[in-house]
Amino acid sequence: MEKRGLLYEGKAKQLFETTEPDVLWVTYKNQATAGNGAKKETIAGKGQLNNQITSLIFEKLKDKGIPSHFIKQLSDTDQAIKKVSMFDLEVVVRNVAAGSFSKRLGVEEGSDLPFPVLEFYLKNDDLNDPLITDEHVLVLGLASADEIRDLKEKTRQINDALINLFRKINIRLVDFKLEFGKTSAGAIVLADEISPDTCRLWDLNTNNRLDKDVFRKDLGDIIPLYQEVLDRLTQL
Ligand code: TMP
Repeated sequence: MEKRGLLYEGKAKQLFETTEPDVLWVTYKNQATAGNGAKKETIAGKGQLNNQITSLIFEKLKDKGIPSHFIKQLSDTDQAIKKVSMFDLEVVVRNVAAGSFSKRLGVEEGSDLPFPVLEFYLKNDDLNDPLITDEHVLVLGLASADEIRDLKEKTRQINDALINLFRKINIRLVDFKLEFGKTSAGAIVLADEISPDTCRLWDLNTNNRLDKDVFRKDLGDIIPLYQEVLDRLTQL
């Protein structure tokens, strides 16, 4: 398989066509952004850490019977993935109050939630990815009622698997964002990435942040933290 032309460039990744019609080539970039691109920096080493972490997590989920678009890691910064048609949705899961949930609803950061809270966001940078309801998803034609049910069921299953995975390496999975796509055969599969860019990960003993909040809030260098997450995952 060979890399062909650039198909899409996002904030954190580039997507290329390949010589295989159903396979795309992803390159993880060193760019870090926050606040919908308002804060932007190049951070050497971030791309390869997120690629390795995502590859490892997608492999672990596959072992648990949870399919994704991931095919294989090609290099430090690159992956082969299945071509899927993406839902214009972000699915956020919250196990612990933090971030926009705490801010919007006035709930103290760090409070355990009685059950995992699922939220849909519209993927639209011009609108700042607004929070939307199930009825908005239907009315905007983003997913059907059956697909919403499927997305929620898969998300809960992924949350259970990830909570267990991170607990084994002494990390509290506070919240995270997922994206899904549909294969040419019509199956809904997990897509995009799962990394410290897209999750809040707190050390179970110290509550130290091991994720992108450190960049968002200018609290220090994220590279040693992402490396720590990768090192712990590699021990599993
Ligand atoms: P929030 O508290 O800012 O809404 O974020 C919830 C979780 O989703 C957090 O783990 C970060 C992740 N997230 C993304 O990965 N991309 C995004 O665009 C947003 C808004 C959140």
